[in-house]
Amino acid sequence: MPNRQVWILGNFKQQLLPGEVSKHLRALVPATQAIRDRHPDLHLGIAPTAVSLERAFRDVGQSTGPQAETNPVRVLAQNVSAHESGAFTGEIGAKMLVEAGCDLAIIGHSERRSLFQEDDAVIAQKVATCAQAGLGVILCLGETLAQRQAQAHAKVVRDQLKAGLAQFPWELQVPLIVAYEPVWAIGTGRTATPEQAQEMHGLLREALCELDPKQGSGRSIIYGGSVKPSNAADLLAAGSEIDGFLIGGASLDPTSLTAIAQAASEHLSQ
Ligand code: PGA
Repeated sequence: MPNRQVWILGNFKQQLLPGEVSKHLRALVPATQAIRDRHPDLHLGIAPTAVSLERAFRDVGQSTGPQAETNPVRVLAQNVSAHESGAFTGEIGAKMLVEAGCDLAIIGHSERRSLFQEDDAVIAQKVATCAQAGLGVILCLGETLAQRQAQAHAKVVRDQLKAGLAQFPWELQVPLIVAYEPVWAIGTGRTATPEQAQEMHGLLREALCELDPKQGSGRSIIYGGSVKPSNAADLLAAGSEIDGFLIGGASLDPTSLTAIAQAASEHLSQ
């Protein structure tokens, strides 16, 4: 694994009630203590629904805002409004998330793209709004099965990266993580092979370095799509461009999430 930050992040989606998130964290925080002690560059995080954020911060028992990086488990936002503030019923703004304690937000998840019609322009606006508020960005992208079958996957993800970051204020030094998540692997039980993932991460790395010559090589690119304890080690072993995971289904169980973090820890120790 390269000299970059490694992220093991759970995306709870619209699952787990606030009380269940608490129970999860009460198991996860102690179970992962030794891993965190061993690897200060390995970061764990969970993204619960917005109504669970405040309680989750209490459960991790720690700081919010810029100090959030000292928390044993980071608490992330699953989504954010494209607008700074205003009459947008039901939306949650980046500044609100920062004040709630978040330091990272997931943007451009394939479910937001396909089920909520978020296109590249909306995603770029969300990225820019977050960055201006000082909220770090986890930018998700990935091709559909049809796009892969048509051999368009490389172009699709390159275009998504460029479009999503079109308004990113590079000069502000806002944290940015890219998550490669092939749509055909999300929630399907079908994972990209380690070779496929490595190829796509390599290509995203090149594109990121073009966009951000100064820091592109140091930014983390994580993989998502049916990651579980049984495939995490193989994916990490595929090569040096996979800097961790964004995990849906398997993250709902603290034991599985801990096992994935353990696989990353063992990989880092090699
Ligand atoms: P999955 O979800 O692990 O359940 O495939 C991944 C994601 O949606 O980020």
